[in-house]
Amino acid sequence: MRIHLTEVDELPDNSPNAEVEEYEDWGVGLRDLALPKGLRRWIIFDESTIVGNMSAHPVSYGPNEGSVSMNIGISVRREFRGQGIGSAAQKILAEILHSAGYVRVEAGTDVGNLTEQKALSKAGFQFEGILRAAQLRRSGRHDLQLWSHVSPEN
Ligand SMILES: CC(C)(COP(=O)(O)OP(=O)(O)OC[C@H]1O[C@@H](n2cnc3c(N)ncnc32)[C@H](O)[C@@H]1OP(=O)(O)O)[C@@H](O)C(=O)NCCC(=O)NCCS
Repeated sequence: MRIHLTEVDELPDNSPNAEVEEYEDWGVGLRDLALPKGLRRWIIFDESTIVGNMSAHPVSYGPNEGSVSMNIGISVRREFRGQGIGSAAQKILAEILHSAGYVRVEAGTDVGNLTEQKALSKAGFQFEGILRAAQLRRSGRHDLQLWSHVSPEN
């Protein structure tokens, strides 16, 4: 797997976010959303081909820098799924964020999103528990699983 991540200010128009997915159908246009403060974005490349994108935003668990985690998200283009890209990219982003000083990197995913759960597990994340009724999408309110990747040098 020869993927690499490039941080960008804006996603290109042809990014996979344009596709509406079961787990990403918020019932409103993305432009209508209040995007989290401190949101960062990356494009996933396989050589020069865009195969997906990722995001990360800070989540604070206390009033000091050491209590800030980064919560990541990912979307791999449909035609590139099931090739190990999602798991490799999430491992790479966790390492980038650990190198930037974030000890805890977390990811939430729908309790029914078995593909993402498998990808997170392969990326070295550990399942922590259930966030009840955490997400409201077009299809209704959903429980999430919370996973984390903690720096070995914490
Ligand atoms: C979730 C997602 C990022 C995973 O990316 P990916 O490149 O397909 O992931 P990987 O190939 O690294 O791993 C997927 C694993 O799930 C497995 N899988 C696929 N469908 C599955 C299912 N229905 N049940 C269980 N496992 C499944 C695959 O077999 C693979 O495991 P393997 O390598 O042991 O065979 C991608 O499917 C995606 O973008 N989905 C839509 C957006 C989304 O759900 N994002 C996450 C929101 S939190």
